[in-house]
Amino acid sequence: MVTYSGKAKDVIVLNNEEVQINFRDSISAFDGDKKEELAEKGMTNCLTSVKLFEILNEYGFNTHFISKINDTQLLCKKVTILPVEVVCRNISVGSFCRRYSFEEGIKFEQPIIEFFVKDDEYHDPLITETVAVQMKLITENEAILMEAITRAVNEVLIKIFDLISLQLVDFKLEFGRTTEGQLFLADEISADTMRLWERKTGEKKDKDRYRQNLGDVIVHYKDILERLNSILKLPDYKPLSTVQVIIKLRKSVLDPAGEVTFRSLSRKGFKRIESVRLGKSAEIAFNAVPSSELQSEIEEISEKILSNPLIEDFELKIQHHSEKSEKSTLMKNR
Ligand code: TMP
Ligand code: ASP
Repeated sequence: MVTYSGKAKDVIVLNNEEVQINFRDSISAFDGDKKEELAEKGMTNCLTSVKLFEILNEYGFNTHFISKINDTQLLCKKVTILPVEVVCRNISVGSFCRRYSFEEGIKFEQPIIEFFVKDDEYHDPLITETVAVQMKLITENEAILMEAITRAVNEVLIKIFDLISLQLVDFKLEFGRTTEGQLFLADEISADTMRLWERKTGEKKDKDRYRQNLGDVIVHYKDILERLNSILKLPDYKPLSTVQVIIKLRKSVLDPAGEVTFRSLSRKGFKRIESVRLGKSAEIAFNAVPSSELQSEIEEISEKILSNPLIEDFELKIQHHSEKSEKSTLMKNR
């Protein structure tokens, strides 16, 4: 039996498909510099994670959560945890404000997504997606999906916490990869991994109570759990993932229409143009949250139906549109 012991949880590999995760009463902050045992912390975080993973599963996200074994133990899908974690911020606070010397408590016009390398020794440094991909920590596909999924999770969690009068300030997600290369939300989602403020008063309800010695940590953690358990009906949420597929003639294929356009532009005096290639574009909207399956489906549609693989190439521009805004644009070249 293989066991990995983290700062607050133990993972026991049961077989090729499943792991058991045991939540302990340990709490730590500042990369383990400050640590303590708090009674009922393991149970509270375990049950909060169960509730939130169940909700996310319900909305169609792929999460590693399979079932609850008991109040401190979960049965989860076995995945390889990616060494990059994703933080989503709705309001400025914490390391963001320290890093940029930015005022606290400012609501961002768009949620901010940041990637961090999981490495306590180096204090989980911020990393750009480009570097994370170059360093082969994650693939380009994973980077695109991790951001899109995180934005969609943010929309769902904002609605959930709004129902129970809490403001979702920010949160951190971890992802795992199956042997088939599919992405799953992993680790835990609890008051340890997010910031939640009482909507009316701004009172902190999350791990900042421990980080800042505010006291009553478990009282507030339990209150969050109780409020989550009081939700009788999940809010409506219509996910909308749109994809722009740009279909271009392969470089080796002649493009007479592009040639004509090029000559006409040159005649009109646009002397700096080197060449023109014409293509077509399709925009497809899916009523689905972003996932590995959706990405495969889009690729299949693009390859088999939208483009002619003998002469054409395609490029995908995947977006996750929130109900309020349109953001998360990433390019994928093929
Ligand atoms: P930060 O402002 O300290 O970077 O934290 C951003 C969010 O990520 C916040 O909700 C707390 C969460 N977080 C973790 O879950 N684990 C960590 O190790 C850190 C530093 C933050
Ligand atoms: N989770 C990290 C630790 O246990 C840091 C933090 O949450 O502040 O040290």
